[in-house]
Amino acid sequence: MVVAPATAKVIGKYAHGISDDLVTATLLATRAPVLVAPAMHTEMWEHPAVVDNLALLAARGVHVVPPESGRLAGGDVGAGRLAAPERIVAAAAEVLARSGDLAGLRVVVTAGGTREPIDPVRYIGNRSSGKMGYAIADAAAARGADVVLVTTVHRPVHPRVRVEAVVTADEMAAATLAAADSAEVVVMAAAVADFRPKAVAPAKLKKSDGVPEIVLEPTPDILRLLGERKRADQYLVGFAAETDDVRENAAAKLAAKRVDLMVGNDVRSEDSGFEVDTNRAVLLDADGGVEEFGLVTKVRLADLILDRVRTPHPRQGATE
Ligand code: PMT
Repeated sequence: MVVAPATAKVIGKYAHGISDDLVTATLLATRAPVLVAPAMHTEMWEHPAVVDNLALLAARGVHVVPPESGRLAGGDVGAGRLAAPERIVAAAAEVLARSGDLAGLRVVVTAGGTREPIDPVRYIGNRSSGKMGYAIADAAAARGADVVLVTTVHRPVHPRVRVEAVVTADEMAAATLAAADSAEVVVMAAAVADFRPKAVAPAKLKKSDGVPEIVLEPTPDILRLLGERKRADQYLVGFAAETDDVRENAAAKLAAKRVDLMVGNDVRSEDSGFEVDTNRAVLLDADGGVEEFGLVTKVRLADLILDRVRTPHPRQGATE
């Protein structure tokens, strides 16, 4: 429960158990964590009664987002100005995360499509919007995990997520492998290019020079590298973007890349895969479990995936 703004009156009533209106009655009745964001004139904010009441609430575990200094109603300036909304939201997210079932878990998520340069202007890319990866990062953070999101695209994200911006497969490999060293869970939801131009033209290719021939070379297979160095306490999730035989192709990738969970998703249907808010996926785990989901939102699928990684366990026969 967030009380913003929290006036001197509400703070005083709440501190002394007076519940003669909807707000204070709800405050006394709720079992949810409570966060107050005081706002009042400086003289009130500094009054000993308010100071004591807030100290009483803080001692009972109420979370306080202190006011800022600045212009107050009535034109005067000083301490007592309501904290900025994003500060209040971030504080509330932090409170909720502490009770989350993934609290304490360090999770790395990748999102978006890599861009492999042809020349300073052009690149080879794909249609990944990052929505799937962002949904997983958001859900993991909301459930208490410490999340690093390695991404090629930029979207609004949960305030507790640490974003690392990358562009190419090489950059994504470096950032992801480094972050994975101190993480218990890694989710490779990014659409990493399999190939890139072997040589990047130093200047924009000119039409007048005729049709260019571009020789490609493989990019680092990040998921494979993660699998090869996977610790016994790590849980590795891969995605398989398939246009047909989703389950079979995903199963083949699962076996080849030492992952704990493979999310096979259909990227041919209009309402699934790239860019859309929904997905159709089959989850295959390393112990042979198979769960097929019809059309779900990517937000829901993110939680379904995380429900399966919340207790990472060493795979049978994993090296110590
Ligand atoms: O971003 P959205 O628009 O929401 O779309 C979501 C998505 C369709 C991109 C996502 O759900 C998805 O399927 N991501 C994986 C896309 C992909 O690269 O799949 P793949 O089958 O080509 O690769 C298999 C796995 O290997 C993936 O986990 C991929 O991240 C990883 N990979 C691939 C190539 C490479 N060089 N290194 C890798 O680590």
